[in-house]
Amino acid sequence: MKIERPRGTRDFLPEEMEKRRAVEKKLREIVESYGYREVATPTFEHSELFKIKSGEGIVEEMYVFEDKSGRELALRPELTAPIMRFFVNDCSSLPRPIRFYYFGNCFRYERPQKGRYREFWQFGVELIGSDSYLADAEVISLADKMLKSLNIEYELHIGHVGILRSALSLLGDKASKVMRLIDKRDEEGLESYLNELGVEEDLKDKIKAIMNLKGGREIIEDAKRITDYNFHYIEKLLDIIDSLGIKYTLNLGVARGLDYYTGIVFEFYAKDLGAQKQICGGGSYELAQLFGGVRTPATGFAIGFDRVCELIEAKTKRKAVIVVVYFKGFEKIAFEVAEDLRNSGFIVVVDVMERNLKKQLSYANDINADFALIVGEEEIRKEEFSVKDLRSGEQISIPKEDLTTFLHVRLKR
Ligand code: HAM
Repeated sequence: MKIERPRGTRDFLPEEMEKRRAVEKKLREIVESYGYREVATPTFEHSELFKIKSGEGIVEEMYVFEDKSGRELALRPELTAPIMRFFVNDCSSLPRPIRFYYFGNCFRYERPQKGRYREFWQFGVELIGSDSYLADAEVISLADKMLKSLNIEYELHIGHVGILRSALSLLGDKASKVMRLIDKRDEEGLESYLNELGVEEDLKDKIKAIMNLKGGREIIEDAKRITDYNFHYIEKLLDIIDSLGIKYTLNLGVARGLDYYTGIVFEFYAKDLGAQKQICGGGSYELAQLFGGVRTPATGFAIGFDRVCELIEAKTKRKAVIVVVYFKGFEKIAFEVAEDLRNSGFIVVVDVMERNLKKQLSYANDINADFALIVGEEEIRKEEFSVKDLRSGEQISIPKEDLTTFLHVRLKR
């Protein structure tokens, strides 16, 4: 019986993994250059962690299960809540601000489609302990730099949930559903929900006006006519973002799909991804006090790793591969030679199928190896190896002691 992999999950071939690792490496270099250090948390948590404040949207999509002792656990749908749990439990005495980054798989029971999976990876950062606009400026510019380094075309939208939330303050605990409808841009759903709640026309107009405010900095003036919200924080943040030459759209309709945001929010949209175009999302939030800690401001973001990988061409350069081919009876020597070469830094493959020399050579060609190194009686007697450059077809005899130098020189060509 053939067993399929679960819906919404993927298997990755070596080429895909090489590309993913290359992207990961680049992202790591950039976050580390900002002083962020990697942390890791468990793949599953007590489901409560995500029920407290992540919002109904996330909870509905959560993989929840009971373990053998009856505990209710959940596969993590994201990493911000786990990092804040970790911070409260074990890291709250670290010097502030704390700069953490992570790269891990997340699980959401969503309807799978291109760019949307049930298991996907996030590369994210959390900057914990500052409530300054400078912290938001740092994480936005960091996300921008990471995505820029991948040569992706995208748009950055910056908003502030405080403005929408203050307009929704009369709605109490119904506000988060409204935020979710705004996040989904579900205008019909929003209209009917606001009607259901009996929201007056004036407030409805105000909500719709705010969510449609989008453009350059000049929209702040329009916003000030609609709300009495203080835009000082946003203006100071935008001064920094402008001075760094980062392009953005100020979009007061950015509501985010998670409930815990309190201030600046931002999203990056890729130009060519269609429906699943959001490649990064983040903002500032306060979660520590909900997990038994002291109220602590924090800000961060997560890049949708799978989505950015899908946008970039595989350009990884494969390292050269050497295949040691040998005549029957020379297995031991072949294994020894291979080991010596590996210790000198080469990738070396030896036949483990007890095939004849011809078949070994044809396998070397099939896997696109760069060199075949022949081991047989003559080679041992003369203390030299026949090396076949599979890229040119040329075959050369090299004294044993010159072998590694020869290969190094050849590979540089
Ligand atoms: P999020 O917007 O829910 O935010 O997810 C971050 C990114 O993960 C999205 O922008 C998207 O690219 C990617 N993503 C989400 N769901 C899927 C999926 N089903 N398949 C593929 N990619 C997906 C968060 O999770 C917050 N924790 C981000 C954050 C960090 N905020 C502050 N700190």
